[in-house]
Amino acid sequence: MNDSLSPALEITLKSGQAEKQRAGCLIVGVYENKKLSQTAEILDKASEGYITNLLKRGDLEGKKGQTLLLPELKGIAAERVLLVGCGKAQPLKESEFKEVMHSALQAVKATSTQEAVSYLTELAVQERDLYWKIRFSIEAIFENIYQFQAYKSKKKDTPKRALKRLVFAVPTRRDLSTAEHALNEGLALAEAVAFIKDLGNTPANICTPTYLAKEAERLAKSFKTLSCAVLEAKQIEALGMNAFLAVAKGSLEAPKLITLEYRPNKAKNAKPVVFVGKGITFDTGGYSLKTPYTNMVGMKYDICGAATVLGVMQAAAQLELPLHLVGVIPTCENMVSGDATRPDDIVTTLSGQTVEILNTDAEGRLILCDALSYVERFDPEAVIDIATLTGACVVALGRVASGLLGNNPELVQSLLTAGQNSMDRAWELPLWEEYHEGLKSNFADLANIGGDAGTITAASFLSAFTKKYAWAHLDVAGTAAIMGGKDKMATGRPLPLLLQYLLNRCSRK
Ligand code: BES
Ligand code: MN
Ligand code: ZN
Repeated sequence: MNDSLSPALEITLKSGQAEKQRAGCLIVGVYENKKLSQTAEILDKASEGYITNLLKRGDLEGKKGQTLLLPELKGIAAERVLLVGCGKAQPLKESEFKEVMHSALQAVKATSTQEAVSYLTELAVQERDLYWKIRFSIEAIFENIYQFQAYKSKKKDTPKRALKRLVFAVPTRRDLSTAEHALNEGLALAEAVAFIKDLGNTPANICTPTYLAKEAERLAKSFKTLSCAVLEAKQIEALGMNAFLAVAKGSLEAPKLITLEYRPNKAKNAKPVVFVGKGITFDTGGYSLKTPYTNMVGMKYDICGAATVLGVMQAAAQLELPLHLVGVIPTCENMVSGDATRPDDIVTTLSGQTVEILNTDAEGRLILCDALSYVERFDPEAVIDIATLTGACVVALGRVASGLLGNNPELVQSLLTAGQNSMDRAWELPLWEEYHEGLKSNFADLANIGGDAGTITAASFLSAFTKKYAWAHLDVAGTAAIMGGKDKMATGRPLPLLLQYLLNRCSRK
């Protein structure tokens, strides 16, 4: 598992004079109109105006993403200097900063540099500080080098002399402790993102509910503060989680209810924040069958909510956050068979409410509603569920923002803020009672589909099961993965948002 971060790239921090750094490559920014970044200016002086001369000649315009490699500059200890264009001399937008990072990395990778020192964290980014720039750079770098090659019989081989160490230059020694926080948190985040991507990318013939339960158990074994319990079909049945079982029924794969608990000493007596993740290992739609080529391809990613919950627990444990957390994952496969649920079937949920299943493809809310009742036993401070729940969310918000709905304005606001902080943004949709109308059923307490505004009606369905606590729902159908075509890929979202939410909670205390 997790071949994704190899070849391992070591990231460290350093402060000190640029011209004296002994490294394969120094990475510095230059702007349009021959404007130099701080360090470019220092290197220019040390090399007696080499860089300004070069810009005067017009060898590099400084446009965003352009690069120019300068080997063996006089007066500079490093073997090479890489100039990276940053556009107009003004603070960058976050996406531009990322673009600059990516082009720098591409250019360094094309050389035989093994150790590079980056000065790009000195570039001004709109309303962002050093902490943010370092953490975001780490995310961008690991996004750039992530590969999923587990099922390639011939792995792309890595060149013998590949980039092994990347050093972030920090302005002064006083900045080192902030930078260290950013580095630790960035690395924990990047590792957990890679873990989530691996789980999402692993196809459903391998990534079964049993496989997912094993991954949760393996994770729990690697941290003293984590524990894991897995309930089997019989126990799920005994509890009365019949909506969950109605989805699982049509598959040969046994459903699992996974609970992970992170409870460090520092938060022994705190109420937990509970995460619930949709873990449909494959969504055929059931008898409300999806169209194989257009809708069904990519439905291995219907596990991304569950994968994110595992990622949250891993990152929190690694960072030893002083918080009490619980992760709950209902996981099964949505298939067709002689035993599968039919449209029109009625089930009694764990909450006691009955549901008429009018569409077996609206299965996510069925497994979630029981899990959301189940988590009442943890007496939660807040409950956040994460689910690739509706195609309608992709229509409404595309691949940019995750859909966010909830019954507690304060919780919703902190998630919106965390999304903004981490650039893993969410957008709130209304959860007004008018939207609940469509979920009426002739024969049961609720129907599992209802009316227009699919993302809202789905959340509205869930809200009937979350009355006892502060709750928020993240619909990540558009953001957790690119589900079709040759670029099919999990993104690791919304982990950056959720980890940020937890970090913000820690600093509020
Ligand atoms: N897993 C899908 C949602 C989905 C669709 C995720 C496209 C990512 C991309 C979910 O289980 C589903 O099938 N939802 C239905 C709900 C409908 C039947 C009310 C949908 O969105 O079509
Ligand atoms: Mn479905
Ligand atoms: Zn689904």
